[in-house]
Amino acid sequence: MTAHPRIARVAVFGGAYCQGSIDTAREHGKAPSLVGTGLTARGMVQVIDKLERALRGHQGPPILRTLSRLAVGDPLDEGDHAVLPMLAKYGLGRQTAGGFELDTFGHQCADAAREYKLWTERGRRLHWEDTMPALMLSNFASKRVLEIGPGWGCNLFRLMRVTPHARGREIEEVYVRFTSIFAKLEGVESPAIDVGGGEKLPYDAASFDWVLLFSTLQYMDIRAAVRDIARVLAPGGRLITSQPLLPVLLADLFRARWEPRALAHKVVALVNSLSYGLFGQRLWGNVASRSTSRPVYLTRRQTISMVEKAGLRFLPSLSAQQEEAREFILVAEKPQG
Ligand SMILES: C[S@@+](CC[C@H](N)C(=O)[O-])C[C@H]1O[C@@H](n2cnc3c(N)ncnc32)[C@H](O)[C@@H]1O
Repeated sequence: MTAHPRIARVAVFGGAYCQGSIDTAREHGKAPSLVGTGLTARGMVQVIDKLERALRGHQGPPILRTLSRLAVGDPLDEGDHAVLPMLAKYGLGRQTAGGFELDTFGHQCADAAREYKLWTERGRRLHWEDTMPALMLSNFASKRVLEIGPGWGCNLFRLMRVTPHARGREIEEVYVRFTSIFAKLEGVESPAIDVGGGEKLPYDAASFDWVLLFSTLQYMDIRAAVRDIARVLAPGGRLITSQPLLPVLLADLFRARWEPRALAHKVVALVNSLSYGLFGQRLWGNVASRSTSRPVYLTRRQTISMVEKAGLRFLPSLSAQQEEAREFILVAEKPQG
């Protein structure tokens, strides 16, 4: 993942991938502005069913490519323009003079498509699997693994090659709807992903050997999440979490100073980060609403301290700052006994 230029580019402003890509595109005014769809749950299922049929046919690759471009506001070529009427017909947004305006739901579909494309391009591997000892695939062999914020589940697909006990907990139902679609495209079983927030986990105490969060913790109520992760980890079990830290936000704030939208977004993130660090609350858009759009960036010390307060032991020798992705990977262990 670290070597992937697209992830690195998205990470420049979001410090993240996935929802971060939406934030990034929005800030730069490159991606379509969001418009509400008023789609019902049934309507959503119908649209996703239609998309699935299209993705499994000969139109699949061009649709994935166009959605991936729309997700981050990349320029569209002729091939993309040929796909746009179909996306409009499915109700993912509307065509405009300049291109295409995705709605909220369309954005999530585009995000899932983009994640799938990135994952296939990185050899269908876990992030940092080849460079970080804590993330070597063999560590997870036959283990009980929970990924919080898996999106449609790319990492779970990889983990299922070595353990039947990998599952996810994801807050956005739309992403989870794509799990079975990509499983069919890949010819594998779907991993189990429970829809809901990672701050309140519906699992027994000590029921996992590993809990993973890739670029997810910053969107959550971090204290509550870490507390519940400590509860579900078995003694000797480990937490691995990667997230951008405060210096990333400060650097982006500086870079964003001539772009009003990007600047406003970063100022909100800064105020939220400071208030979360001090009082455990975002000043704007606290948790329950849509925490994905309100990232907080803590210092390294604050992040470690939250994990330690939850009763986990920070493992510095296994943790590392990943410079290219600009994420701090923290590894912690639940003490035995
Ligand atoms: C940047 S994406 C990462 C996706 C995936 N982990 C990966 O490595 O590509 C962050 C994910 O966290 C999810 N998320 C955000 N807040 C969450 C919460 N409170 N509980 C569970 N998942 C959450 C988002 O919906 C999104 O799927």
